[in-house]
Amino acid sequence: MRVLVIGTGGREHALAAALAKDAEVTEVVAAPGNPGIAQVARLAEVDPLDPTAVAELAVRELADLVVIGPEAPLVAGVADAVRERGIPTFGPSKQAAQLEGSKTFAKEVMLAAAVPTAGAITAESEEQIQAALDRFEAPYVVKNDGLAAGKGVVVTDDRAVAEAHARECGRVVIEEYLDGPEVSLFVVTDGEAAIPLLPAQDFKRIGDGDTGPNTGGMGAYTPLPWAEADLVPTVMRTVVEPTLAEMRRRGTPFSGLLYVGLAITKSGPKVIEFNARFGDPETQVVLSLLETPLAGLLLAAATGALAAHPPLSWSADSAVTVVVAAAGYPAAPRLGDVITGAEAAGVFHAGTGVRDGALTATGGRVLACTATGRDLAEARLNAYHLVDQIKLDGMQFRTDIALKAAEL
Ligand code: AMP
Ligand code: GLY
Repeated sequence: MRVLVIGTGGREHALAAALAKDAEVTEVVAAPGNPGIAQVARLAEVDPLDPTAVAELAVRELADLVVIGPEAPLVAGVADAVRERGIPTFGPSKQAAQLEGSKTFAKEVMLAAAVPTAGAITAESEEQIQAALDRFEAPYVVKNDGLAAGKGVVVTDDRAVAEAHARECGRVVIEEYLDGPEVSLFVVTDGEAAIPLLPAQDFKRIGDGDTGPNTGGMGAYTPLPWAEADLVPTVMRTVVEPTLAEMRRRGTPFSGLLYVGLAITKSGPKVIEFNARFGDPETQVVLSLLETPLAGLLLAAATGALAAHPPLSWSADSAVTVVVAAAGYPAAPRLGDVITGAEAAGVFHAGTGVRDGALTATGGRVLACTATGRDLAEARLNAYHLVDQIKLDGMQFRTDIALKAAEL
């Protein structure tokens, strides 16, 4: 099987690495990729947001499966264009990707499907903004309605900050604050059948102790020793199955990866957000424990054959990933600094490039240092050992990824 992976980040590096390990896979091509991905795949050039260009590349590469990593190409209709050429494609249609592309759409689907989530109001005018903030009170949750790469959300006790974000975004969703630990659950689906992966936890804030601004994610771990045994079956029954049924009912079935971002509240798991693709950096930890060959699983989802897929098999180990970010991230990442020490297995490249033969930082999140261990404490040690090898001027990373969970 020849697999084409679209994207450039740490998630795509982890996907390409896992696909390359599948015995059924003869070659992985990644486009546009990055220097880390080039260690596990052959790189090709493409504008990932151009549906025709991606479809033509898939045809030229004789791809048997195309895996689309990031949300922007999905929302741009890249999966539709590749499927039109008759090539199995892992990733939702443009319409189904609106589950991530529009917070308002996601709320409509959840309302129709009676999925537990935060109460929410879409607001545009000053009057609507004020009324919504009055209704939900502090802490205020204000979300940009469109795609914002995980950075369009402000959660604050400061009403002036909430108002300023709402005005800046134009159209926002203002919602009830959900109190409780967060979980990311990835579900592979062909639109009908659905198979959950291991739940993971992501660390969204830049600073230790969950301080500072939100980021795309500063680290992750799996499994979750503190989670109730029935967490995943409960989410499948109360969230995933009704959501997939509602998407089918609308004539826009969702196939690909449904990422359910949850808060585990006192009254049970509630949806914070849906994404239409694998999460980054949770993918790096989840895939490092998956023993089932990945290409076969994604191909089954892409071809409507998931119901016949065998149950997944998982390592009994634990996995931790620690993101190394550039100085100034998330507000104003400083790009171009030279990176050394990033050669080890498990160092997934997110924002890297090559300049004059040297590896350099090209994005806010630069590397995701990922390791396994017999338990979370050992996986943490191994992941931070990888971080210790990295040299990048002004690099930032959290020192408390999976710390609380490892102490349980
Ligand atoms: P989102 O992009 O919707 O995942 O939001 C980013 C982060 O903001 C989430 O991971 C949460 O930490 C926080 N957040 C979003 N919505 C809520 C909510 N309703 N209640 C509490 N925290 C939230
Ligand atoms: N880790 C959060 C995301 O991928 O959106």
